[in-house]
Amino acid sequence: MSIRSFLRDDDLTPAEQAEVLDLAARLKAEPYDHQPLAGPRTVAMIFDKPTLRTQASFAAGIAELGGHPMLVDGTLAGIGKRESVADVARVLGRQAAQIVWRTYAQTDLDEMASYAGVPVVNALTDEFHPCQLLADLLTIREHKAPEGKSLAGLTAAFLGDGACNMGNSWLLAGATAGMHVRISGPEGYVPDTAMFARANEIGAATGGSGSAVADPVAAVTGADVVITDTWVSMGKEDEAAERRAVFGPWSVTSDLVAAAEDDAIVLHCLPAYRGMEIAAEVLDGPRSVVWDEAENRRHAQKAVMTWLESKRT
Ligand code: NVA
Repeated sequence: MSIRSFLRDDDLTPAEQAEVLDLAARLKAEPYDHQPLAGPRTVAMIFDKPTLRTQASFAAGIAELGGHPMLVDGTLAGIGKRESVADVARVLGRQAAQIVWRTYAQTDLDEMASYAGVPVVNALTDEFHPCQLLADLLTIREHKAPEGKSLAGLTAAFLGDGACNMGNSWLLAGATAGMHVRISGPEGYVPDTAMFARANEIGAATGGSGSAVADPVAAVTGADVVITDTWVSMGKEDEAAERRAVFGPWSVTSDLVAAAEDDAIVLHCLPAYRGMEIAAEVLDGPRSVVWDEAENRRHAQKAVMTWLESKRT
């Protein structure tokens, strides 16, 4: 028996990513067309960090696929404390068709996938947020490459805390899509060099690339897509003051967006802090596609779950 999981962005090859995005677009047009979880089969969702969009979009998406979303309270379960990740995986794998987990360490997620015997989906870790990236790419397709055209050749500028899960995921998923991804943040807040190396390794096949561009204006100049995220990711709350002291120049303001392409779009995975990483007039302005992006979580994740079911052999 062979099973695929979706733990990080480069778990999908470029062809597989395109296939999942095509499926997401189809499921958006025909929400009840695919019922791979009919029965209903249960999908376990575990959240060790706060959530709104992820819980809501997975629960709604699982239901639309004919399945039953089972919320497992991460605090009650005490995964890794009350019992090992491996034992939790073995138990949940006997109850659920798939396991969706938001947690801290990527290594814990990897361990869950090793022992579960069912597909495991990353609903955000400290290192990656791959479901968000599929929603982002679907949103960019809709606005920049309608009719399923490739995203290859587009330039994306990610501003702010490039060292967070979103910066890493943008490098890998963007390069997989053949995009040029620029990461711009203060010193100490850019991804590890290994992440850039991996993006450029992927880019060698797709034409994409990943680079660090310290100056925010230079990073945004000529960009088709401008992205930001909170400066204080979940789990980093103790560092809020020191982070806010250095991130100011990377705030996505109207002036900064003016340096991008005239038809550039602005993405933010939310929750957003207006006046911090993004100006209210940008988030709520005509370039912003953040509500499409939030909706697209459901369609993208439905496509991932459907695709993972199709890969069971
Ligand atoms: N980087 C953010 C993403 C929130 C969806 C965090 O980890 O809190």
